[in-house]
Amino acid sequence: MDKLSSLAKFKASCPFLGRTKTSTLRTLCTSSSPRYPSLSKLTEKATECPVMGPALQLRSHQMVAGYASVAGNAEFNKIHQHKGVFPVPTSAADAQKCPHAAKALAAARMAEDLAKAKEKKTAKAAEAAAGPSTSKAAAGACPFHAEGASKQTKVGFDYEQFYVNELEKKHQDASYRYFNNINRMANKFPIAHTGNPKDEVEVWCANDYLGMGNNPAVLETMHRTLDTYGHGAGGTRNIAGNTGMHLALEQEIASLHRKPGALVFSSCYVANDATLATLGSKLPGCVYFSDSMNHASMIQGMRHSTAKRVIFKHNDLEDLEAKLQQYPKETPKIIAFESVYSMCGSIGPIKEICDLAEQYGALTFLDEVHAVGLYGPRGAGVAEHLDWEAHKRAGQSPDPIKGSIMDRIDIITGTLGKAYGAVGGYIAGSTDFVDMIRSYASGFIFTTSLPPANMAGARASIVYQKEYLGDRQLQQLNVRNLKAKFTALDIPVVPGPSHIVPVLVGDAALARAASDTLLSEHGVYVQAINYPTVARGEERLRFTVTPGHNVEQIARLATAVDKVFTQLDIPRASEWAARGGRAGVGIAGAQPVEPIWTDEHLGITDGTAPRQLHAGDARHVDPRAVRVVRERFEDLLGPVVETPASTKVVVPHGMTIPTPPAMHAPTPIEAAA
Ligand SMILES: Cc1ncc(COP(=O)(O)O)c(C=O)c1O
Repeated sequence: MDKLSSLAKFKASCPFLGRTKTSTLRTLCTSSSPRYPSLSKLTEKATECPVMGPALQLRSHQMVAGYASVAGNAEFNKIHQHKGVFPVPTSAADAQKCPHAAKALAAARMAEDLAKAKEKKTAKAAEAAAGPSTSKAAAGACPFHAEGASKQTKVGFDYEQFYVNELEKKHQDASYRYFNNINRMANKFPIAHTGNPKDEVEVWCANDYLGMGNNPAVLETMHRTLDTYGHGAGGTRNIAGNTGMHLALEQEIASLHRKPGALVFSSCYVANDATLATLGSKLPGCVYFSDSMNHASMIQGMRHSTAKRVIFKHNDLEDLEAKLQQYPKETPKIIAFESVYSMCGSIGPIKEICDLAEQYGALTFLDEVHAVGLYGPRGAGVAEHLDWEAHKRAGQSPDPIKGSIMDRIDIITGTLGKAYGAVGGYIAGSTDFVDMIRSYASGFIFTTSLPPANMAGARASIVYQKEYLGDRQLQQLNVRNLKAKFTALDIPVVPGPSHIVPVLVGDAALARAASDTLLSEHGVYVQAINYPTVARGEERLRFTVTPGHNVEQIARLATAVDKVFTQLDIPRASEWAARGGRAGVGIAGAQPVEPIWTDEHLGITDGTAPRQLHAGDARHVDPRAVRVVRERFEDLLGPVVETPASTKVVVPHGMTIPTPPAMHAPTPIEAAA
């Protein structure tokens, strides 16, 4: 896109651009500033702007190291490729080699220069007019500069500089995070638009693993709850924010995990943090045994507890046992681990950890965040999946199955924000454990509870997935398909038994460049995962596939990734093997990793597997599961009233809802209209 047409977008919002003729703008763009020859006159002008000036000044460091994302990834990559500068520079030293980043750096320096010059000038004038101590007046009349100047002249610690220095560290070790603007559209799943509503991309890394964020039964329930109970919860659980929707959700979760109790938190980050912090600080002399790849929320909770924390090697039972042996049986111990590790796709040895816990007198704390909704006949997670037949036989009974793995786990935590497509997190366990956390955990007590409509949506989602296996099966079939396609193209998939498809890149800048190129040239959005989320040298792209991705989209994705690997010269699986392997890729003599969804689970053996979607196919919405969801909410929301008008129900594109429902009772606004 040429510079003038990009500027035209801002004519409505910028008074300078709005009133300046295009011919003048062209001249300003194409002539160099006499003072800073590497910059245009227009850039120099921008530094005088009350909005752009301070912004350029403040972001100078970011512009050096991260100019790519400040400029907007897609456009930036195109410009660089056109100029033959690709992959993008990431360090300050590299930036000097790049004409664009160097320009940005010069612009930032100039902005600083100008701001300082202006500050001196205004300070002198203000001093002359009102004496030396009027720092506010020194900033002049401009509100932007007034604020900046008052910060700069504050006595004592230089807070702003501190922030800048901290950010600079992030840029230096390439761990500064850039967020893409991605707006997933309910009626076009799995399509999203970027910052520009007309710019559509396919999403290949969302944690809304099953597309429940736009399931029609869930949306219908949420609409009805919103119309009945309004938006916010109105208070903490202790003060006016304890609704029937919260209580029913907790009962549903307890029943899902066949545990006596459950408690909902604002997120599973909060659930993990608050629970581990409370347990570790209350249990006398408690020692945590923590898997080395545990999520930040668990690490934070253990740290907050101040209890001793012993870290064992990822999924290494020998190391765990050796560490457990060092403590007396009487010492309270908690083994904290996950079922599905979301960045590498590995699965914890749950049964074996339960065995060790029993032997050494430890509690088990299992985070099933990336497994709930996705594994097991009812979607209760990997612990349920491992005793498939027993759980299938038990149906929807809330009673524990004695001796089953799920029963042997003391504490299960899960999220409502990933496969269930909602928001919130929870713990499930014994009645007294749940009551103790409810009574002591400040992260639960002192915060406004989540809105009833969210609680209802989450519960509808759990109920739907408890009743319908097809989404889970189809997701896994799609995962198999994508992994097979990547493998055939020598694309290095980190081997794992789960639904996560991590593709090794092995370099932070390359991983980001691959992500940016897929987005700008192929309309594929997949996030690069860099240090500290994964080890340096193990940077990757993390793909997630949903039941809503069709066969053609999967094939197109594999082709796009193949092209980008060639274009950026990213090592293939065979190259990793030649180098001796990394992150499980190309390791000589390694046993193949089998998926934990077998052909029997998927319905391949008995011919009941769901059909993979093709372009234009409607996504299946299960009529029986929809009926059960509606029945579950009758006590609070009443029956869904079928009206003739409801035969034309609008549901997200490509979906059918089996019996025509009234989406929600007319709100007063609709009634008045
Ligand atoms: C393993 C694990 N536990 C807990 C969480 C936090 O869950 P939530 O997103 O509900 O806060 C995450 C989030 O990504 C996670 O990956």
